[in-house]
Amino acid sequence: MTQPAQPHIHPIDVILHKRDGLALSDGEIQSFIRAVVDHAAGGQTLPDEVSDAQIAAFLMAIFERGLDHRELAALTTAMRFSGETFDAAPLNTFTVDKHSTGGVGDKTSLLIAPTLAAAGLAHPTPSGIPGICVPMISGRSLGHTGGTLDKLETIPGFNTQLDLTQLLNALKQCGATLIGQTPTIVPADRILYALRDHTGTVESPFLICASIMSKKLAESLNALVLDVKTGSGAFMPTYEKSKFLAELMVRTGEASGTRTVALLTTMDEPLGRFSGNWIEVWECVDIMRGHRHPISADLIELSNTLSGWMLHLAGHADTPQAGAALADEILRTGEAYKAWLKIVAAQDGDTAIFEDPAAFHKPTATRTITAPQSGYLAAMDCKQVGWAVQRLGAGRAKPGDPVSAHAGIEMHAKLGDKLEAGQPLATLFSENPVLLDEPEAMLRETLQINATPPRLHPLIREVISARTS
Ligand code: URA
Repeated sequence: MTQPAQPHIHPIDVILHKRDGLALSDGEIQSFIRAVVDHAAGGQTLPDEVSDAQIAAFLMAIFERGLDHRELAALTTAMRFSGETFDAAPLNTFTVDKHSTGGVGDKTSLLIAPTLAAAGLAHPTPSGIPGICVPMISGRSLGHTGGTLDKLETIPGFNTQLDLTQLLNALKQCGATLIGQTPTIVPADRILYALRDHTGTVESPFLICASIMSKKLAESLNALVLDVKTGSGAFMPTYEKSKFLAELMVRTGEASGTRTVALLTTMDEPLGRFSGNWIEVWECVDIMRGHRHPISADLIELSNTLSGWMLHLAGHADTPQAGAALADEILRTGEAYKAWLKIVAAQDGDTAIFEDPAAFHKPTATRTITAPQSGYLAAMDCKQVGWAVQRLGAGRAKPGDPVSAHAGIEMHAKLGDKLEAGQPLATLFSENPVLLDEPEAMLRETLQINATPPRLHPLIREVISARTS
């Protein structure tokens, strides 16, 4: 029996429906996304090919009108399958990943991947593959936030560009990978993201959710733990908006069969001691080698909490709390460091530099800011601190700009710490002395010292799961 011909769906009709507040059908969403990818590839699926202007109008219509849960699931699925997907089924293991919505000094991936890898290597499947696999696909610095790939690429030789076959092999061997987006996974997101940047549609929670979740779900995960930042260094401006985004992502993940949990976490100050590129790797190597600097305490707590959830969802801990305790033990015993060396070596990185990470830090310009008066470090605009890190050379003003390995900031105090006048507050590093002045002024303006201690939010504010959302 011949199938009835599918009516053509014209891009303009999809735009008009969304503009007028109608819910789009799954077919409309699928054809629009297919046309977006075909347009970029120079092909044509629809009778009238979609233009950049129409894609921009589609994004703005979604920005203004939003999406209901079915539409969001359809958009995420259409984007997820817009290119190749990673199929972990041949591994017959438990695949789990974590994603952060982006912060300042947020280097938890560098601790979590080896921690989970160590747990998986210690409990192999009957065929000898690590019992947990973390195919961590990360991004580059964006706006005021840092990017895991930029940090990793400061390790001489480290290759973040594995193809899907190499990814599978690295997972079999190490239990975790730390790699970049491949050109073939979720091509629709690359096209939409570039246009969002130029059309004022980046901040839509629906578009953020579809963008993040399409890429994570293309990894064919059993479970996903999301770190959704809230506070002055987060992309979402209010707690309510961060929570709304977390709920959308949890619902979207669960709807496609991936156990998904989101933690709403405070980003009111840089996480840990260093913010930059190599200096963040150095901080994590120190922790994995058993040196716990007091300023790194929040980083260790957040990494262990996120690892704890991942270990719990993977069935290696009865509760997330037991998982966090297990993660801490894996860090303390050096098992995470062994797994880290294995991951780095498998991705062609030079592990010898971890012997003395401080010696590899070679900024040519350094300046320390001290407290102008005694009191408590009471507040800061964490986004400003992130921009200061970027202006020192550690981030990029536009996509494709080079980043400095050695630029960044070391914080000598945390919010709530009592300071004496003249005590060091922060040290700035750059590879160009001219770049120190503006970030110094930015920090002096934003770091506030008050006579009374501040009221601070807890690091972990709320957990959103299928049960709560
Ligand atoms: N990260 C992404 O991958 N996509 C967004 O839209 C925002 C942050």
